[in-house]
Amino acid sequence: MEIVIKPNCEAMSHCAGDFVEAWLSRKPDLVLGLATGSTPLGLYRELARRHRDSGLSFARVTTFNLDEYIGLPADHPQSYHSFMRESLFRRLDLDPRRTHLPDGNAADIAAECAAYEAAIRAAGGIDLQVLGIGHDGHIGFNEPSSSLRSRTRIKTLTEQTIRANARFFGGADKVPHHAITVGVGTIFEAQCCLLLATGTEKAGAVAAAVEGPLTAMCPASALQFHEFCTLIVDEAAAVGLKRRDYYRYVYDGKPDWQQWEKTGA
Ligand code: GLP
Repeated sequence: MEIVIKPNCEAMSHCAGDFVEAWLSRKPDLVLGLATGSTPLGLYRELARRHRDSGLSFARVTTFNLDEYIGLPADHPQSYHSFMRESLFRRLDLDPRRTHLPDGNAADIAAECAAYEAAIRAAGGIDLQVLGIGHDGHIGFNEPSSSLRSRTRIKTLTEQTIRANARFFGGADKVPHHAITVGVGTIFEAQCCLLLATGTEKAGAVAAAVEGPLTAMCPASALQFHEFCTLIVDEAAAVGLKRRDYYRYVYDGKPDWQQWEKTGA
């Protein structure tokens, strides 16, 4: 894993923007895996700014989101469909036919999950997967105890996740209890994973993911097993990392030619 520690959320988002842009310049028809939550919002603002100011184009990009709530109308303001439309899609030149989210209102959820997996495969697989992390180490909605080889399926949210997401819904009682999420195994097949985290409240999850044991109790720890995984975190989210000085030393000493290559740290 490559661990990049930036002073604050803004610097983290800028750095993540450089990372995505580097991928896009190498592969304009990138298949980009996207996350929701507040963490990637700074990155999405960066991408929108670069599109607006420098003409960074997403016209040939295909996107797949990680997850969607079950039973929430797609036009509900807190659905991930709405979230992505408002925070990113309408700000870029993406072709709407190439943006994908699971359909949380599908009549046959199992068939929808299988179709989502098939669509990812048909697109050639995810090149770059953007991830946030839950307080309990979840990625997508893969809660602790998720199989580390899981595929797209229905998951029941933990009470902690429901409480954490209550702020968007105006109360825990309004948060759906179920979601469709791509699996840990699905995420694992991405060519490269980029995990972002900000704030002290994520420090425990980041430390468990990077330096803890590989365990289904912290699904993000599966990324230790991924060949090309970069974490970009701010200082606050890095405070629990025992070897943070080493990670800084490694990153600061990276030669220019190696910046944002798939280095397989
Ligand atoms: C939700 C999403 C995750 C996200 C997590 C953290 O559970 N399904 O993809 O990483 O929230 O959200 P936030 O970035 O708001 O802390």
